Amino acid sequence: MPETAMELIDVKKSVGNKEIIKGLSFYIYKGEVFGFIGPNGAGKTTTIRMMVGLMKLSAGDVRILGNSISTNYKEAVKEVGAIVENPEMYPFMSGWQNLMHYARMMPEVTKERVQEVVTLVGLEKPINDKVGKYSLGMRQRLGIAQALLHNPSVLILDEPTNGLDPAGIREIRQYIRKLAKEEQVAIIISSHLLSEIEQMCDRIGVIKNGELISIQTVGGDAADHNLIHQMEVEPIDKAAQVLQEQYQLEAVRIDEFLSFRSQKEQVPAIIKSLMENDCAVYQIHVAKGNLEDQFFELIGENTIE
Ligand SMILES: Nc1ncnc2c1ncn2[C@@H]1O[C@H](COP(=O)(O)OP(=O)(O)OP(=O)(O)O)[C@@H](O)[C@H]1O
Ligand SMILES: [Mg+2]
Repeated sequence: MPETAMELIDVKKSVGNKEIIKGLSFYIYKGEVFGFIGPNGAGKTTTIRMMVGLMKLSAGDVRILGNSISTNYKEAVKEVGAIVENPEMYPFMSGWQNLMHYARMMPEVTKERVQEVVTLVGLEKPINDKVGKYSLGMRQRLGIAQALLHNPSVLILDEPTNGLDPAGIREIRQYIRKLAKEEQVAIIISSHLLSEIEQMCDRIGVIKNGELISIQTVGGDAADHNLIHQMEVEPIDKAAQVLQEQYQLEAVRIDEFLSFRSQKEQVPAIIKSLMENDCAVYQIHVAKGNLEDQFFELIGENTIE
């Protein structure tokens, strides 16, 4: 069993007479990257604000390494690093000066630790440049460095790749994976960018209207199961019939492609059967946005209420 870093126990939040978070319960383990996804207004930021102690819970509890955020606040938040809103950095100071500024407010953070986090996020080169000159990606990394200064067990990032270009997103993704693996930090990332979360996370929790509607494991072995395949094949109706009769697979025609869900391991046999039935296979590929389709199946489109 993996070790638990953070625990949400029937967390609820009401504002006025409106319940915005309706009883969330889940665990987050050490060394994992947990994606928290849902449409705009689903309750991600609200939940994160409660997790880091920026907002009071109406009911339930959040426990960080066993310490309750309600009754043992100090011990609990000691183990949390977070970027909830854009981190406040002074543009006229260098990256190093900014980090030292925060380090001085935390008695246990040494100069060596500051150097360590700089290396960890790969900011060695520009660390003495003024932050005003940093790119968005560099600023994000500095924010992560700052959140990591006090060696937290849990790192929470609300939309960490917001506004980054693809190269910046890739970079942040790599640092996040590295952090989880090498430092055994539990990392929680909120986003509505599914394809990206899919590549970064070990597990994903889907939230809608303040409720957790699914938790799924992504990556690793699980990703190989029941992928959506798209095949260019002729004649297409005959191919659909073969899939149905020999493999009990529901195949649908989308434009000029035949689309079906199956395990990767089944594909060679399927192609062989099609050939034996005089169907010509021109190409086959795994449909992108596998998770995206599942996501829309789960939450529906245009669901902001
Ligand atoms: N202070 C508040 N008072 C009343 N309602 C609020 C308050 N803060 C948030 N809400 C409502 O709570 C719901 C959840 O908002 P939240 O910001 O947590 O969503 P989110 O999942 O972070 O969305 P986004 O993807 O847009 O960032 C929304 O319906 C929002 O209108
Ligand atoms: Mg939000």
